[in-house]
Amino acid sequence: MATKYDKTIASEIINQFGAKPEMLVQVLHAFVQRYSFISEEAIRQIANELNLSNAEVHGVVSFYHDFRTIAPGQHVVKICQAESCQAMGSRQLTAHAERTLGISLHGTTVDGQVTLEPVYCLGNCACSPAVMIDETVYGRVSPDKLDALIEDCGGSR
Ligand code: FES
Repeated sequence: MATKYDKTIASEIINQFGAKPEMLVQVLHAFVQRYSFISEEAIRQIANELNLSNAEVHGVVSFYHDFRTIAPGQHVVKICQAESCQAMGSRQLTAHAERTLGISLHGTTVDGQVTLEPVYCLGNCACSPAVMIDETVYGRVSPDKLDALIEDCGGSR
């Protein structure tokens, strides 16, 4: 669930990294951790306080998969798309999730419950295909297991 944006706290986060332009990626990670996405307001404030242009911050935000720019759903389901998981069926698992949730990767269900995202290795390659739901990583996830996990977390199907 997204935390309400607060300019003072945002400023504190930026200052934790010395308000240095070279710390932009770390600042963005900290913002995602706190707010779960990088809003336009955040981009303007970060650019202003790091002495960067809005376009420079936008460029970095759009380069990295982790920096989403819209609020995610209540639960974030990440399916690993890296090599080991692909070899063990993560593409088919992704297609199954897209079909059952009625959304594409990076999308959120209409009820706002589930956001589906790709991820590139969860460090769980021995148990491919791997999935992360919110903060928990699961291994050897079959389509049925994925359905059950999403249902358990309260997500819609
Ligand atoms: S490749 Fe999927 S967890 Fe490493």
